[in-house]
Amino acid sequence: MDEVSQIREKIDLVSFISEYLPLKKMGRNFTVVCPFHSEKTPSFVVSPERQIWHCFSCSKGGDAYTFLMEYENIEFGEALRILAKKTGIELRQSEFRKGQSSLKEKLFEINKLSLKFYKYILLEHSAGKPARDYLLEKRKLNKGIIDTFDLGFSPNTQSSLSDYLVKKKGFKPQDLLDAGISIQRNGKLMDFFRNRIIFPLFDHRGNVSGFSGRSLNETDMPKYINTKETPVYHKGSLFFGLNLAKEEIKQKADVIIVEGEFDTISLFMEGIKNVIAIKGTALTEEQVTLISRFSPKATLCLDQDEAGFEATKRSLLNLEKKGLTTNTIVLENAKDPDEAIKKDPIAFKKALKEAVNIYDFLISAYLSQNPKDTIEGKKKITQNLLPLFSQISNEIIKEHYIKKLSTNLDTSIESINREIEKIQKLTQEKIVPQSTDKRPRREILEEYLLSLIIQSPKQKETLEENKKLLKDYKFEVPAFLKILDSLSVYFAKNQNFDNRLFSNYLDSSLQKSFDVCFLYPLPKLDTFEKWSLEAKKVSFELLNLYAKERLKEITDEIKKTEDKESAKALKLKEEFSAVLRLLSQKA
Ligand code: GTP
Ligand code: MN
Repeated sequence: MDEVSQIREKIDLVSFISEYLPLKKMGRNFTVVCPFHSEKTPSFVVSPERQIWHCFSCSKGGDAYTFLMEYENIEFGEALRILAKKTGIELRQSEFRKGQSSLKEKLFEINKLSLKFYKYILLEHSAGKPARDYLLEKRKLNKGIIDTFDLGFSPNTQSSLSDYLVKKKGFKPQDLLDAGISIQRNGKLMDFFRNRIIFPLFDHRGNVSGFSGRSLNETDMPKYINTKETPVYHKGSLFFGLNLAKEEIKQKADVIIVEGEFDTISLFMEGIKNVIAIKGTALTEEQVTLISRFSPKATLCLDQDEAGFEATKRSLLNLEKKGLTTNTIVLENAKDPDEAIKKDPIAFKKALKEAVNIYDFLISAYLSQNPKDTIEGKKKITQNLLPLFSQISNEIIKEHYIKKLSTNLDTSIESINREIEKIQKLTQEKIVPQSTDKRPRREILEEYLLSLIIQSPKQKETLEENKKLLKDYKFEVPAFLKILDSLSVYFAKNQNFDNRLFSNYLDSSLQKSFDVCFLYPLPKLDTFEKWSLEAKKVSFELLNLYAKERLKEITDEIKKTEDKESAKALKLKEEFSAVLRLLSQKA
């Protein structure tokens, strides 16, 4: 056995994933809400029998290696090193490092060297003087904080950084373009950031993912530019400052979210260290997923303007999806936290202590914007608030705010609830098969049917019943038919189903599809009769869908044949009748 498999064998996947996620036992498997996207009901399943995991919502899945790679955003080589260490299995160098480093590692290296260059220019070089003056005098930073946040400066030259990286460090021009450090102008490399204060962005593991650059010249537009999307820089899943704030966030069980880089730095200088910046937009799902690992609560502290208010509302939807408690603070006489804390640090800290729940804040905001005694006012207020209320996952909290609104508007709780129900009906989710699934209906149903067969308490029986029903059916996904055939071969030789033994009967290319069906979260079917009925219902629907598609095709073909009495046309008509008979089977 090779080292990779040896390590995999040594790890119990359930206890391994339990170190990261609160798994709950559900029948033969364990489930939890998926860490890789937002959801309220768990779609992430771990199978102790098969030692695999799979998310039925985002379709990610695999073993301990793939889990670690996804969760920590690392590559196979690194996951292997971590798991080797964990299991105490020694790796022979040659096995996991064949020469070159991976693309991601190379980009991180380029970014690291670039940051060193930017820092040197800011701190040591005469070209950095205007930037030093700006940061120290105009923005009131000090040397210590500049160092803590690893700020830098990109000089106002064509290509000094690009030249350095190519000539002194031996990178290829293409590497620098890939990293977003350089751009191409008239066939030559040019530095992407020029004459800008540099804010590095670290991922939560401390790698430099990319940079933001703020113009030094107030008239240079845009004010901020960011590294373009690269394999290591995804704006929507990073925060400025998370590397520094992470431990404090965990300890305080609260994360303060601000818009800008300077907001973050100014709060940090005043000793408020659980602060991160979203860099001017609303919180994305990925960002919320990331912070939910560190804190159950978030305090939004965005700019005090219309854009900040809208961003607060949009962020709230994503925060609520992950079940984070959300507070917000209200600043008097300041456009953003940077200005507020510089004006009056004590007042700012007080405001932070008095942070209000976001729903209380929104209720007051809409009540103050609209006359609550008029019909128009009531309509405006509820139209804005109820869609937000309908998303609240905790029923007790939801009721609390419904009551509060009903008192304020002098309306009954029942009518508010009825309005919320209307909103929910519009967005309701079907459970099985998942409505988020965008694949063609037949493909979804085929997978569901196969899952019903594979997980059936009497596999052989369920298999035979449905194979008979589907003998004229043509599978949309050929792999599913192949698995059914393999099952038939298996049951010709074996009485009971054993998933390990069955693996020998299954072509390795089908393993993944089989695993998915083996883990597929089925609805509760407490008797075999119900089970059998559900499977048959699915088979009939498949047959029905197939027959309708086929009828349409045949009709089109008949229309196209010139001679309606030719052999070809007659054959088509025969097939038409045969398919019609298929359809009538339903009754
Ligand atoms: P400073 O003077 O730098 O403190 O900016 P500000 O507080 O006036 O910035 P503003 O409120 O306009 O922006 C808040 C944050 O949004 C900034 O820190 C940036 O991260 C981001 N941002 C601002 N302007 C731009 C822009 O033109 N492009 C992009 N991509 N981001 C921007
Ligand atoms: Mn601002």
